Amino acid sequence: MIDRGYYDGFGGAYLPEILVATFDELEKKFMEAKNDPSFWQEYVDIMSTYSCRPTPLSFAENLTRHFGGASIYIKREDLNHTGAHKANNVMGQGLLVKRMGKTRVIAETGAGQHGVATATMAAKFGFKCTIYMGRVDMERQRPNVFWMERLGAEVVPVLEGTQILKDAINEAFRDWVSNMDTTHYVLGTACGPHPFPEMVSFFQSIIGKEAKKQILKKEGRLPSRIYACVGGGSNALGIFQSFLDDPVELVGVEAGGRGLQTGLHASRLSSQDASIGIAQGYKTYFLQNNEGQMKKTHSVAAGLDYVGVSPILANLKEKGRVRFESATDNEVVEAMSLTMKKEGLVPALESAHAFVQAFKEAPLMSKKDIIIINQSGRGDKDIFTVADAFADPKWKEFIIKKAGEYNA
Ligand SMILES: Cc1ncc(COP(=O)(O)O)c(C=O)c1O
Repeated sequence: MIDRGYYDGFGGAYLPEILVATFDELEKKFMEAKNDPSFWQEYVDIMSTYSCRPTPLSFAENLTRHFGGASIYIKREDLNHTGAHKANNVMGQGLLVKRMGKTRVIAETGAGQHGVATATMAAKFGFKCTIYMGRVDMERQRPNVFWMERLGAEVVPVLEGTQILKDAINEAFRDWVSNMDTTHYVLGTACGPHPFPEMVSFFQSIIGKEAKKQILKKEGRLPSRIYACVGGGSNALGIFQSFLDDPVELVGVEAGGRGLQTGLHASRLSSQDASIGIAQGYKTYFLQNNEGQMKKTHSVAAGLDYVGVSPILANLKEKGRVRFESATDNEVVEAMSLTMKKEGLVPALESAHAFVQAFKEAPLMSKKDIIIINQSGRGDKDIFTVADAFADPKWKEFIIKKAGEYNA
């Protein structure tokens, strides 16, 4: 156990002996890079030439008029290369891998967004790439699997456990233990053993740094509230960090799935169903039973159904600095639909959780209030799930015809 990386008791690094040296090396290289202003400049440069930074802060004029309360702004992380905030983290870690002189990257993925982003980064930097993905997630997110493979990555189906994100993380750690000399594990969110929560939050902090500058330039004042969805917590921490010392209310929205009362959800900080434990190398709130076995989670959004949550967010919840809410699958599909119709924006199902809570609260706020919603990704990847949710008959006809062509 390393005695660093604690957030008032949450976090830490509970590691098998064999990984301690690798984590020490990673922490050392990360700290060197973090304290080197030229590294941040190199990062900003690559994000502005290869991805789409700074991403815009869009005023949602029609939604603002529709709800008649607070002015609604949307931070457009969907405009990153590969369609989500995940690019911020993987490109940053890619630059670190280059500094460490390693040649292979591995990653876990749930929704597939982090896998696509990692495969893209590996192609760009010339690394070998293996992605671990639960079999259930592979079925839900076939288009992303297709792209990862086309980008040159090997996608390994994980058949252990419930065959979703937490199982993919376990498998990635197993690989890392055997290949530490050549391989870096690009963890996709602000979870896991130290230094991952700090490192992922550091790269994602670019979201909030930009958003703060942008809103001050546009409105000359800070927003009243900021909303972000919470899977592992990286996009939320990305936008929240710059506002922690400001009088801005921060709202994290978790997956309420079929409703908290059904138990079919992934609400760790907004329900009473999670408890503090140690798993996957760190201490946080987990959805677990009395024996510490992880519970089955559910969300319409594959990227939000993780059993744990960032130790940094767990601490911010205990301190009362971030408020946590949840949104159900049905509410999410409705909010996504309204955002498409009113603004021509297609939020990912994950991001749409933040929109749900913002839409509940905006009408109750004054016209003088400003809110920002973090649109963490774009919803193209969700076409199959969303078409099912709308029971779109023309889509079904198209799929059946396509299947017929393959069978012919
Ligand atoms: C678009 C999008 N938003 C949000 C998330 C949740 O991750 P995090 O809480 O780390 O931002 C994911 C995860 O895959 C995602 O793909």
